[in-house]
Amino acid sequence: MQKIVNKNLNGLKGEVTIPSDKSISHRAVMFASLAKGTSLIKNFSKGEDPHSSLKVCYSLGIEYEFINDTTLKLTSTGILKAPIKDLDCGNSGTTMRLMSGILAGQKFNSTLIGDASLSKRPMKRVIEPLSLMGAKINSNENKAPLEIFGTQLEGIKYNSKLASAQVKSCILLAGLFAQGKTIFTEPYTSRNHTEIMLKYMGAEIYTDKNTTTIEKSQLEAKEIEICGDISSAAFFIVAALIVPNSKVILKNVGLNPTRTGILEVAEKMGANIKILDKRILAGEEVGDIEICSSDLKACTIEGEIIPKLIDELPVIAVLATQAQGTTIVKDAQDLRNKESDRIKAVVNELKKIGADIEETPDGFIINGKKELIGDVEVETYHDHRLAMSLYVAGLISQKPVAINGFEWVDISFPEFEKLFTQLQL
Ligand code: S3P
Repeated sequence: MQKIVNKNLNGLKGEVTIPSDKSISHRAVMFASLAKGTSLIKNFSKGEDPHSSLKVCYSLGIEYEFINDTTLKLTSTGILKAPIKDLDCGNSGTTMRLMSGILAGQKFNSTLIGDASLSKRPMKRVIEPLSLMGAKINSNENKAPLEIFGTQLEGIKYNSKLASAQVKSCILLAGLFAQGKTIFTEPYTSRNHTEIMLKYMGAEIYTDKNTTTIEKSQLEAKEIEICGDISSAAFFIVAALIVPNSKVILKNVGLNPTRTGILEVAEKMGANIKILDKRILAGEEVGDIEICSSDLKACTIEGEIIPKLIDELPVIAVLATQAQGTTIVKDAQDLRNKESDRIKAVVNELKKIGADIEETPDGFIINGKKELIGDVEVETYHDHRLAMSLYVAGLISQKPVAINGFEWVDISFPEFEKLFTQLQL
């Protein structure tokens, strides 16, 4: 589907409630599936990816019923059943990597498959540590399909080279079923939703700096209310900062400090942003964010902050086109392993629109402030975050931007355009 985006001339104004967090939604259905009893999950994501996790759990014997479009009751015996078909993770890396940790320690065999993009993504990062725990996994040269032969796992002490929440979560989930302690250390802190939710559901888990320890545990069914996704809010944050005459309030946004790198960067760039009404929801920090159009200056984004904004880098690139000076993004080589090679994709497509942006092996360099021209067709590379970032670029381009493959937005944020329209009335 092609979407034509026109320049916004009046500013974005008003309030929107940001829909459910994708990462937390995945974890809610997976962990509720491991708990004995009925869990009530409120504000579950409408995105296709979390629904892939729900379908996989259904194939493993759980039952669920939607009470309304975002609330579901999920019932499990606490013991997964052998699936009768391959488990389809769709486009979702989180489903494949976290489920591989859960499935490695079961008493049955299973096979995880994915779409064309997911079947190209690296799985060695989970196969290697799981194998050290005793897991038996066949793969297609360390890519999907993953054929998992369930077995009794042993806890390990693992020092990960990657700061990846998917790898960390996979190993901690395997640790739930392993004999002895599993101790996982990461170089920098990645998102910690797994640790927070496992603790909330009764697991023996604790974290000290960048090391998390887990022991074999039985989870308890719980009520889980999911906050709004800061990675979805990011598109509105950037749009409100760069479209002149904007003032926007984003309600119910998750503000877990392992996810708020975009707010730190915006502050460094001189953005006019306020956090209102901070509170706690199911162990997670939440609040409302007020954003006004701002004069921005460039900055360097590198090191420890990268995992805290990894998914926001495509839209941060759009932001940087409007910041005075040279913005440098470094240490983000794993962006090449996402739903697309996001370094290449962002650079190619923003160049077409008129940005001054160069690719580097581990990021990009952007010279601003540069007026974007538009009057061009751009591609989404089957990547939801690219589609939404290009939409934001279209809002400040002199002439229209035609985005091919815009339907990929539904992977994480089907409400995206409707909410943007609300702010443009
Ligand atoms: C996610 C972790 C991140 C992120 C992805 C969701 C998660 O991936 O990019 O969109 O839910 O754990 P990595 O762990 O590969 O960095």
